[in-house]
Amino acid sequence: MASSVSLNHPWWHSAVIYQIYPRSFASTDGPIGTIRGITSKLEYLHELGVDAIWISPFYPSPQNDAGYDVANYHDIDPRFGTLCDADEMIARAHDLGLKVIIDLVPNHTSDEHEWFQAALEAGPGSPERNRYWFRDGDEIPNDWRSVFGGPAWTRVSDRADAVGSSWENDRQWYLNLFDSSQPDLNWENPEVRDYFDSILRFWLDRGVDGFRVDVAHGLVKDPQLPNFSGDVSMVHGGTQRPPMFDQEGVHEIFRRWNAVLGEYEGDRILVAEAWVDPPSRLTRYVREDEMHQAFNFTFLATPWNAGALRSTIDESLRVFGDVGRPATWVLSNHDVVRHASRLGLSVTGKGPNGIFASDEQPDAELGLQRAKAATQLMLALPGSAYLYQGEELGLPEHTTLPNEVREDPAFFRTAGAEAGRDGCRVPLPWSSEAPAYGFSPSGETWLPQPPKWRELAVDRQEDDPASTLQFYRRLIALRTEWNLGEGSFRFIEAPEHVVAGISSTDRGEFLIVTSVDGQWILPNGWTIAAQSSDTISRDGRTVIGSDTTVWATRSDWLRSDA
Ligand code: GLC
Repeated sequence: MASSVSLNHPWWHSAVIYQIYPRSFASTDGPIGTIRGITSKLEYLHELGVDAIWISPFYPSPQNDAGYDVANYHDIDPRFGTLCDADEMIARAHDLGLKVIIDLVPNHTSDEHEWFQAALEAGPGSPERNRYWFRDGDEIPNDWRSVFGGPAWTRVSDRADAVGSSWENDRQWYLNLFDSSQPDLNWENPEVRDYFDSILRFWLDRGVDGFRVDVAHGLVKDPQLPNFSGDVSMVHGGTQRPPMFDQEGVHEIFRRWNAVLGEYEGDRILVAEAWVDPPSRLTRYVREDEMHQAFNFTFLATPWNAGALRSTIDESLRVFGDVGRPATWVLSNHDVVRHASRLGLSVTGKGPNGIFASDEQPDAELGLQRAKAATQLMLALPGSAYLYQGEELGLPEHTTLPNEVREDPAFFRTAGAEAGRDGCRVPLPWSSEAPAYGFSPSGETWLPQPPKWRELAVDRQEDDPASTLQFYRRLIALRTEWNLGEGSFRFIEAPEHVVAGISSTDRGEFLIVTSVDGQWILPNGWTIAAQSSDTISRDGRTVIGSDTTVWATRSDWLRSDA
């Protein structure tokens, strides 16, 4: 197993990448975060020690899916700012040594995109409609379900804007794997391919270092459109693959984009958002001439169980190693329950799609303790790690949001059966005594912040050595100093309830232990350098308790700078 130690790898091989969800990161204005807000906090991220930021969509959008419904790929939504603000933000990030990855949404456009508006106007059989998946029929074309709930097809005449329009009696259907305001693009059409080449170039010319590719596994559909009503939230390669996901044809597109990136200087990257399992299936997205990274959602979905963690880590390192790419690791993002809450539920794993006040409430203390242990384990592993804004503050999911304030289309399309993702998207607390805890000067926030977040605000944590923020800063600094991201990791013998391994890097050997459920005595000859919870001293030995990760150095290891 394991990646080899090399100092010559490009930055992304071992980068810690911080996800910014712009609506909720920092505002210099009203209730929605701004690009200038991001710029104003770059120093904070630099101090946190991350190598790169990934920014969720900031393009003009009706915001029906929080910006994942793009109306214009070549501009910035005025709610967030201007192209000029984006240029300044990119330049400032680069000054600080931070790489900038932006979100590319190629599976669908917004229905407000000029192409879709033209398609509605032009009518059935037109070249404009051939940029999307329009189909005739008295009956719905097939039984596909939208990922957000409900059917994946919308009849043109059923649209709210059909009344009094030229498409008032238009009986065609169009495909929307997500919301009905997110029509799927037809990637069989060369025009769509050319268009996205030019979008890539537009942003590469502005200096971005890469793209996180939304729904990368969805671009190509089986043109026969056969029925498929199974679960599509995670596509399992072993069983019958759904006709709308993980089709062979997607890879040709990524090879083409890889070539576009290759025209540019610097190490620019493509990162796949592909909910595909097992990891060996996922690594097909990162073959040498395709993308560079893919989110390891199998790791995110692994239950808090030592055996399961060992096996996911082992398999991930092996299969990514097989294609010569670094593994990636992630525990939270804007689509899942925050891991400080997910790991405090009685059943751990991928978790529910949001939590209502009437659902089982996470054990906050246990959740945070496990989250810190999981993060410390993740940050020890070779490869690249993704953090989601606010996890460095130990933010929990907002589990008691009133339904009136929810915005996630998944809540509406399931008729309220699923809470959806708003609970992990609440605006960050920066300053405990300021209105909106410093999120916006106006004191407004697009979602309410729980009152408890006052204690979790950045200014409360900054100088407190026991805070989660300081914990993250220490870990990232040590990871960098020890070069753990470039290490080679091997498991060592340990009891069933423990994940234990040694990471060898050009700086030495480091012991990584996560005790999931029970105690373990730190082996002789090692000294703890970082721990996610207190350890116990007993008869001259160090006892690691449940839900705790430690990093240790050989007791005779000397820092070269000591
Ligand atoms: C991805 C995004 C998610 C979005 C969906 C549709 O899964 O991460 O937030 O709703 O794609 O674009």
